[in-house]
Amino acid sequence: MKRILTGLKPTGEITLGNYIGAIKQMLKLQDEYESFIFVADLHALTIPQNPDELRDRIKKFIGMYIACGLDPKKNTIYIQSENEFIPGISYLLECTCPYGEASRMIQFKEKSKQNANFSVGLLTYPILMAADILYCDACFVPVGIDQKQHVELARNIAERFNNRYGKTFVLPDALISEVGTKIKDLKDPSKKMSKTEENPQGVISMFDDPEEIKKKIMKATTDSDNTIKYDPENKPGISNLMNILSVLANISISKIEEKFQGCGYGEFKKEVAEVTATEIAKIQKKYEELIKSGILDSILDEGISKSRSLAQAKYQEMRKKMGVTRL
Ligand code: TYM
Repeated sequence: MKRILTGLKPTGEITLGNYIGAIKQMLKLQDEYESFIFVADLHALTIPQNPDELRDRIKKFIGMYIACGLDPKKNTIYIQSENEFIPGISYLLECTCPYGEASRMIQFKEKSKQNANFSVGLLTYPILMAADILYCDACFVPVGIDQKQHVELARNIAERFNNRYGKTFVLPDALISEVGTKIKDLKDPSKKMSKTEENPQGVISMFDDPEEIKKKIMKATTDSDNTIKYDPENKPGISNLMNILSVLANISISKIEEKFQGCGYGEFKKEVAEVTATEIAKIQKKYEELIKSGILDSILDEGISKSRSLAQAKYQEMRKKMGVTRL
């Protein structure tokens, strides 16, 4: 069975953007593929974190994955930092990746501009991501569009390694869904909805109170045209809400345009608010049950044990091929 893998980094609460861009895709594919999903806590460290808050969030992410419907029987679920072979693999890959290639990554360019004291980890971020993907021979990586370039880098790194040292890695592809690949901030639809955004009014967290979610959607920035038409360039706010509704209610954009022809924004927003709040409320209920059941630790033990044994084998294979073993 082919493998798919994805990860989310615990730099803030899981957002609706993460749910739609990554988790929903995993949900669709978990029956067809052997699925791996993890919390990318080492990636979170590339920007300063409060240790207690980070520790707390890691478990919340795991609980949320399962509450969203990722079945622990079909998914290997684990915490990245518990797999000590991944940083080793990442280092070996770093030594095969030209500095120029890593420093050309859009995310690195943007984030390094925001803070003059950026860490070296910010530069090597996509190589650690390559290690996450390549150790377990994942062929598809469901992500939002912002991570496409990183998956392409992982593929280049794998290809170069295979050419230099012989076939070692499967070449991965990013899996980007047609709709909802970049959910925008509700207050400023020119930028993506992000966990680390300072204004919470633009961001829907999967832990937000359902009534609060409705209010945020009703107050989302739109335009003065008052027609429900998909036009991301000229009507980014409305198009964003259409994307959300399309994915959550599983209806096409053209069907939404048809359904809301002649309706005002208030009526449309009400529907988006209702659908979103209802779906998230259901997930929150499952989350609460799950936390009470106390089964997360055994799921994580099982997940890390499988992840570790695959990574250990890949690490040994790489070391041998690269000449860093005793025999
Ligand atoms: P993170 O936590 O920033 O994002 C997790 C996933 O959510 C997607 N995403 C979005 N999709 C749609 N609309 C949005 N507004 C939105 N915001 C985020 C991201 O594209 C991503 O798929 N680097 C990864 C974490 C990671 C990883 C990996 C992913 C570490 N190693 C290996 C895949 C494979 C990240 O951006 O996390």
